[in-house]
Amino acid sequence: MATHKLLLLPGDGIGPEVAAEVEKLVAWFTRSGIAAFETERDLVGGAAYDAHGVAISEDAMKNAKAADAVLFGAVGGPKWADVPYEHRPEAGLLRLRKDLGLFANLRPAICYGALADASSLKRELVEDLDILIVRELTGGVYFGEPKEIVTLEDGQKRAVDTQLYTTGEIERIARVAFDLARKRSNKVSSAEKHNVMKSGVLWKQVVTAVHGAEFSDVALEHVLADNCAMQLVRNPRQYDVIVCDNLFGDILSDVAAMLTGSLGMLPSASLGAEDPATGKRKALYEPVHGSAPDIAGQSRANPLAMIGSFAMSLRYSFGLIEAADMLEGAITDALANGARTGDIAPAGTNSLSTTEMGDAILRELEKRA
Ligand code: NAI
Ligand code: MG
Repeated sequence: MATHKLLLLPGDGIGPEVAAEVEKLVAWFTRSGIAAFETERDLVGGAAYDAHGVAISEDAMKNAKAADAVLFGAVGGPKWADVPYEHRPEAGLLRLRKDLGLFANLRPAICYGALADASSLKRELVEDLDILIVRELTGGVYFGEPKEIVTLEDGQKRAVDTQLYTTGEIERIARVAFDLARKRSNKVSSAEKHNVMKSGVLWKQVVTAVHGAEFSDVALEHVLADNCAMQLVRNPRQYDVIVCDNLFGDILSDVAAMLTGSLGMLPSASLGAEDPATGKRKALYEPVHGSAPDIAGQSRANPLAMIGSFAMSLRYSFGLIEAADMLEGAITDALANGARTGDIAPAGTNSLSTTEMGDAILRELEKRA
């Protein structure tokens, strides 16, 4: 059996608390002979700054590059409010994204039947929703140059951001989306605004070309990004995989997230380029939430976003599809059986601690083994 190299970077605040629940699951999978992991641990964020004076050490970066997948908790908190800007906790995450070349951000929006009443939409619209937003993460208007504020001769100021995409950048994100769609329900919706943006014209052309040349077995539709936002709150289940640029992806993934309830439920993945020799991709998996200093140290954090991120690593980095299905099924069953941490429990009802929720998932896994 192949041994999978996992680097755990728990980070700060609730990061270590939710990471500990994943470690229990890693141990369980290994114990039951389903998969073998070699797990390293290292520091990131404020924890790394306290120990080494930087948000991530060169050693930890070396470990991250050697790992098959990085599992990242969360970083930051009031304790590090005054550290020098270049060493702020978030710098650790940005360095990882940049040095690992993580250009594809995957944000699933899954609405578990048991939690459908926590959605901002009616149950019948979101029950069993399962969509995946594939957002380009390293290009577009957040990075394009020029990017500046200049003072004009008449004293006014003018701000400019530049939306910039190359054919190669669009091709590689399109391939990720089509590839993922093949493992799901084989449908990609590409969102852009070719009606008013040149980058949208190119986006649509390139996605169409990649589809025709390599993925004609996958259904492709083009949708204007503003219409996509409307459709997401009107009838979200029409979508499976949505692929879009950095800016539209930022907004559409937050819209989709709120269809599903709590921040404590949302996993994510960021993928890099495929190594042609091994077929492997650099990858980092992390919950969408931050370090939640308001509840840190109280075992109140919901570990399901982190556990869901681990499930994504099983699926997308390790090719352990059955194990991923098992773990996601265990989450569904635990919720169906009433397991709730405080963030997803109805007001006035009893809720589970972080560790109790981890144990509830373990029990469901054992039933499925
Ligand atoms: P946050 O996501 O940490 O918390 C927002 C709210 O959601 C809080 O009330 C928190 O208690 C709750 N919450 C978050 N995760 C939860 C969970 N798993 N279970 C139950 N409740 C949960 O965002 P906030 O408060 O804006 O930022 C706190 C710190 O985290 C800051 O230092 C910020 O910079 C950092 N941050 C780090 C991120 C990362 O590491 N990727 C992402 C976002 C924020
Ligand atoms: Mg956002």
